[in-house]
Amino acid sequence: MRLDRFLGNLPDVSRQDARRLLVERRVRVDGEAIVDGRHEVRVFNRIEVDGAVLQAGKPARYFMLHKPAGWVSATRHPEHPTVLDLLDEADKDDLHLGGRLDLTTTGLLLITNDGLWSRRLTQPKTRLPKVYYVETEDPIAPEYAETFARGLYFAYEDLTTLPAELIVLDRRAARLTLYEGRYHQVKRMFGHFRNKVTRLHRERMGPLVLDPGLAPGQYRALSPDEIMAI
Ligand code: URA
Repeated sequence: MRLDRFLGNLPDVSRQDARRLLVERRVRVDGEAIVDGRHEVRVFNRIEVDGAVLQAGKPARYFMLHKPAGWVSATRHPEHPTVLDLLDEADKDDLHLGGRLDLTTTGLLLITNDGLWSRRLTQPKTRLPKVYYVETEDPIAPEYAETFARGLYFAYEDLTTLPAELIVLDRRAARLTLYEGRYHQVKRMFGHFRNKVTRLHRERMGPLVLDPGLAPGQYRALSPDEIMAI
């Protein structure tokens, strides 16, 4: 929200009052005097007028979790434990997932209370590369890479998948990079060749790599550099 609107919404503060507070340099956001009413403020900012705190600003929180198989990527589920059950944190109702993984999929999952940040992570136009390690029931033929690079038609959504990069690592193992996140996308892409995915593990989302020090079920806070990288 714009700072002038935030001030104008306060009881007994008119738009004119708000403008005056700003030009008189009486408003501070995170300790810094702001005069431009167009300055964007969020629930995470500390906002003061004449030294009185109008909004304390809650901490923005960012975590990476090594999701184990069998935990559902949701904040609530009637049957399975959710990935949030793995977090020993206060105010978990405030948190949401920056992308999802299927029940049996393991690997990197990002969790935050910052909706703008998670939108940058998941919105299609970001084209954030997501890197998966895949194992399959049957051998992976060389033609898969070409087909994935061309894109596959998904009738249900009536779309063609974006070019994806497949590196074959072994007869039944590969690394696949996707630039979007359609429902069950990896399984459906291998399903095109009637080849079942037996193991799926997300290693990376853009610049964020799953910390090798995290065992399945463990998590840690992101570093300031990791947060800024998105
Ligand atoms: N593709 C899938 O099929 N499953 C996932 O969990 C992620 C990508």
